[in-house]
Amino acid sequence: MSDSSEAPQPDSDSNAVGATPTVRLREETAELHREVEQSIDWSYYLRDAHRYAKFLRQISTFLPAADQKIDQLLGKPEPWFKDRRKGKWALEDLQLLTDQSETEILHKIADSAKSITGMSYAWVQTPQDAAGVLYVLEGSTMGAMHLCKSVSRNIPFAPVGYLAAYGDQTPSRWKTTKAWLDQFLVEPHHVGQAVQAAKQMFLFYREQLGGPS
Ligand code: HEM
Repeated sequence: MSDSSEAPQPDSDSNAVGATPTVRLREETAELHREVEQSIDWSYYLRDAHRYAKFLRQISTFLPAADQKIDQLLGKPEPWFKDRRKGKWALEDLQLLTDQSETEILHKIADSAKSITGMSYAWVQTPQDAAGVLYVLEGSTMGAMHLCKSVSRNIPFAPVGYLAAYGDQTPSRWKTTKAWLDQFLVEPHHVGQAVQAAKQMFLFYREQLGGPS
């Protein structure tokens, strides 16, 4: 999206002593957020059904392995965690959009998805790493609300389960996730680990969706 003014701005208490873990995550990845947001050609992906299908296919290819890592390393029983948005939601949108079965779609993306297994997320080894990945994926639901509006404008019939995330609950869900991260990442070096993992996730996301579309 060209309008980067929508992106989160650094907090005024940026160098505050005792910044909370999520404030540190936000500040230490803010530059990368801007870069990733700007390097993905959203107006390409969200312009018509064919391109939107390409976007959903790509999400369905690289996110499920990240979700799996999060589940393995964090596995929380609370509803906010269990019912969180997954890469699988993009696959469901793709099914509806293209009128294909899940098997047909999975067959088509099998080779690329196979290469993006746990191997591609080898840097996600500890619960703190997984928390950093969770931060990026859940935080991205906030930006997705803007992208969802573009899809609904350009392709009114398109399913938007993935981009709409939790609908009007998205901001409150994001608050819940941040509250959990703030109490989970107690040790400063744990926050450092989560920040590194969040940065890797931003970069991986850009690698998968950025560049020439
Ligand atoms: C055009 C695309 C995007 C727009 C317009 C956008 C916009 C935003 C906005 C407005 C927020 C602030 C939410 C708040 O008020 O707290 C936000 C937060 C966030 N976005 Fe994006 N975003 C986009 C793409 C992405 C992508 C692709 C990712 C990840 C791969 C991402 C990750 C995040 C994260 C982690 C946060 C949380 C920041 C925090 O700690 O508050 N965003 N985004």
